[in-house]
Amino acid sequence: MQLFVLGIWSLVGLAIAHPGHDIQQEIQARARGLEDSPRDISHCAAELKARGLEQRTVERRTEILRGAREKRGLLTNPLSIKARDTPSVLQTNHSSPVSYDPETPLSTIFAGNKSCILMPEVTEGPYYVSGELIRSDLREPATQKGIDLIIDIQVIDVSTCKPLSEVMVDIWAANATGVYSGIVNPGNGNGDPGNKETTFGRGLQMTNEDGVANFTTIYPGHYTGRTQHIHVATHLNGVIFADNNTFQGATVAHIGQIFFDQSLSDSIENDSVYQANQQPVTTNAQDGVFLQEAAIGDPVVEYSLLSDSVQDGVFAWISFGIDVTKSEEIFAAAAHH
Ligand SMILES: *[C@@H]1O[C@H](CO)[C@@H](O)[C@H](O)[C@H]1NC(C)=O
Ligand SMILES: *[C@@H]1O[C@H](CO)[C@@H](O)[C@H](O)[C@H]1NC(C)=O
Ligand SMILES: *[C@@H]1O[C@H](CO)[C@@H](O)[C@H](O)[C@H]1NC(C)=O
Ligand SMILES: *[C@@H]1O[C@H](CO)[C@@H](O)[C@H](O)[C@H]1NC(C)=O
Ligand SMILES: *[C@@H]1O[C@H](CO)[C@@H](O)[C@H](O)[C@H]1NC(C)=O
Ligand SMILES: *[C@@H]1O[C@H](CO)[C@@H](O)[C@H](O)[C@H]1NC(C)=O
Repeated sequence: MQLFVLGIWSLVGLAIAHPGHDIQQEIQARARGLEDSPRDISHCAAELKARGLEQRTVERRTEILRGAREKRGLLTNPLSIKARDTPSVLQTNHSSPVSYDPETPLSTIFAGNKSCILMPEVTEGPYYVSGELIRSDLREPATQKGIDLIIDIQVIDVSTCKPLSEVMVDIWAANATGVYSGIVNPGNGNGDPGNKETTFGRGLQMTNEDGVANFTTIYPGHYTGRTQHIHVATHLNGVIFADNNTFQGATVAHIGQIFFDQSLSDSIENDSVYQANQQPVTTNAQDGVFLQEAAIGDPVVEYSLLSDSVQDGVFAWISFGIDVTKSEEIFAAAAHH
C-alpha cells in the first residue's frame, strides 16, 4: 500500500523536480502546515534540565567534538568556537539569548536551546528519495569532495518535552557544488542520468534513548534559488530491511530544513572545492524557506569549527520538536533501488 502510494507520487515528484520548481508554492504549503503546530520547544528547557538530559547533551557534544578533533590530529590546534552571528541572520526577530566568546564555557554553548519544529506536512521539497541507507557517514569520499560537517540532532516531543528514542532521522542535502544524489537535477548543473544511481549526502539514523542521532557529511553547497541547507524528516514507523541496510518509511510526520550562519557558509564557500560551484548564490536573507522558518523559530544550527581553520571541518548541533500525533505521507522524487 505504501509503496503503491510512493510509486504514484514519484511522478509528481519528478515533475516538480524540474528547475521551474515553484518555491512560493512550497512556502505557502509550509505555512498551512504550520497553522496548528506548536511554535518551538523553549517551554521544554526546565523539563529537559530536570531529566538530566541537558547534562548528557553537554557531555555528548563535548565528546563528539573532542573525538572529531582527535581523529583529524587537531587536538593541539586552537579550537575556534564561533558564536552565531545573530545580526547577519537577517530580517527576522529570532535572536540568540546567549552571546558567546572564546572564554564561554563549553557547557553554556552546548546546552543552548536553539531548536525548531519539524512540521507535519507534505512539502518536503522536490528532492526526497525514499529507501535510503541507514548509516551515519554520508560523505562517500571516493567521488565527493568538500568540508566535513558533523551534526548532532536531537528530537524532542513538543507535548511532553521528553526526548524521543527510536525515531528514524532522515537527512538529505546537496553536495559541495549544489547537486543532489539519487535524482537527475539539470537545474542544479547536473543533467547526468547516471546521477540517479548515486547516494551521497543521504542517510538515516535511529535516535537513541536521549533522542539523539549524529551524522558526518559534507557541508552542503548552495544551488539555484536556495541557500545552504539540510533537509530533515523523522519517521515514526516504517520497515528496516536488514539485508541491504535500508529503510522504507510508511509515513513521515515531520519535515524541516536546517540552515547555517551566513558568515560560516561564506567562509566555507571560499574553499576551492566550493568555488567550482557555478550556480548563482542565494543568501539566507534571500531564501524564502529560511525567512519563513526563522520567523517562527530558530532553524540555524549552532556550531564550532574543529580547529581554527574552517577546512578542518565543522561540528554543528540542533534540537527539533515534533508532534507525534501528526503523520503524513511523504512524496518521493525517486526511490533508492
Ligand atoms: C554517533 O552515532 C554513531 C552511530 O549511531 C554511534 O556509534 C556513536 O556512538 C555516536 N557518537 C556519539 C559521540 O554519540
Ligand atoms: C516576528 O516577526 C514576524 C514577521 O514580521 C511577526 O509575524 C511575529 O509576530 C514576530 N514575533 C515576535 C515575537 O515579535
Ligand atoms: C534556555 O531557555 C530558557 C527558557 O526560555 C532560558 O531561561 C535559558 O536561559 C536558555 N538557556 C540558554 C543556554 O539559552
Ligand atoms: C557533486 O556531485 C556531482 C554529481 O555526482 C559531481 O559531478 C561533482 O563532482 C560533485 N561535487 C563535488 C565537489 O564533489
Ligand atoms: C576568503 O579567503 C581569502 C584569502 O585567503 C581571505 O582573505 C578572506 O577573508 C576569506 N573570506 C572568508 C569569508 O572567509
Ligand atoms: C532493499 O531491500 C528491499 C526489500 O527487499 C527492497 O525493496 C529495496 O529495493 C532494496 N534497496 C536497495 C537499495 O537495494
